[in-house]
Amino acid sequence: MGRVVVVQVLTEAQRRKWDNSDDQLFYAEPRFVQHLDSAFRGRLTALYRERIAPQAVVLDLMSSWVSHLPDEVNYAQVIGHGLNEKELAANRRLDCHWLQNLNQTQEIPLNDSSVDAVLIVAGWQYLQYPEPVAAELLRITRPGGQLIVAFSNRMFFTKAPQVWADGSDRDHLATVAQVLMAQGWPRPELIAEQTRASGWTGLIGGKGDPFFAVIATKPSA
Ligand SMILES: C[S@@+](CC[C@H](N)C(=O)[O-])C[C@H]1O[C@@H](n2cnc3c(N)ncnc32)[C@H](O)[C@@H]1O
Repeated sequence: MGRVVVVQVLTEAQRRKWDNSDDQLFYAEPRFVQHLDSAFRGRLTALYRERIAPQAVVLDLMSSWVSHLPDEVNYAQVIGHGLNEKELAANRRLDCHWLQNLNQTQEIPLNDSSVDAVLIVAGWQYLQYPEPVAAELLRITRPGGQLIVAFSNRMFFTKAPQVWADGSDRDHLATVAQVLMAQGWPRPELIAEQTRASGWTGLIGGKGDPFFAVIATKPSA
C-alpha cells in the first residue's frame, strides 16, 4: 500500500464530543430507520445516477441498511462499511462489508486505487479524525474516481465533534472541503440546495431536508 501523508487541520478542541464513550456502543442496536427524509433521499439517488457510472466499484463508507443507490443501475461491486453488523447484513445493495470504528483506527483495508466512487452519507459529521480518513480515501480511489460526501442539517448531537456541532451548514461544507484539500484532493464541487417535501405538503411549499454535498475528483494519473 502506498505511503499516506496526513495534514492535520482540526484542533484537539474541535475533535471533542459530548459523548466520548465507544461509538460501537452507540450503534450496538440496529436502527432500521431512515435518517433522512424522502426528498433528500430522492435528490441523493438522482446525484448518484448522474455521477456514478454503471459497473463502477463503489464503497459506501459509514453505511447502514440502505445505500440510496439507484435500483436500476448495476455496479461491479458495492462494498459497505459501518458499525452495526445487522444493519449492514440487511443492506441488499452491498456485496460485502466490514465493521470498523473510524474514531479508533483510520486505515482502510482496501488496495490503492481500487475504488471508483466513495460515498459517505450523514457520516462525516461523526469523524473525530477526518484528516487520516480523507487521506486514506485518496489512496484507495482510482485516478478519475470521486468522493461524494452528503449530509443534511441534522445529527446525533452528542456524537458529533465540536467542529460539526458548533458549525453552520456553510461551515460544514467549508470544513469538509478544507480537510480534503489539505490531504491533496483538488478543490471540490459544493452543492447546497433546498428540497421540496414529497406529497401534498411539497405542493403547497413545504420543505424537505436541505441537501448538501461535497464532491471531489481524484486527478487522473
Ligand atoms: C446517521 S447514520 C447514516 C447511515 C447511512 N449512511 C444512511 O444514509 O442511512 C451514521 C452512520 O455513521 C457511521 N458511524 C458513526 N460513527 C462512526 C465511527 N466512529 N466509525 C465508523 N462509522 C461510524 C455508522 O455506520 C452509522 O450508521
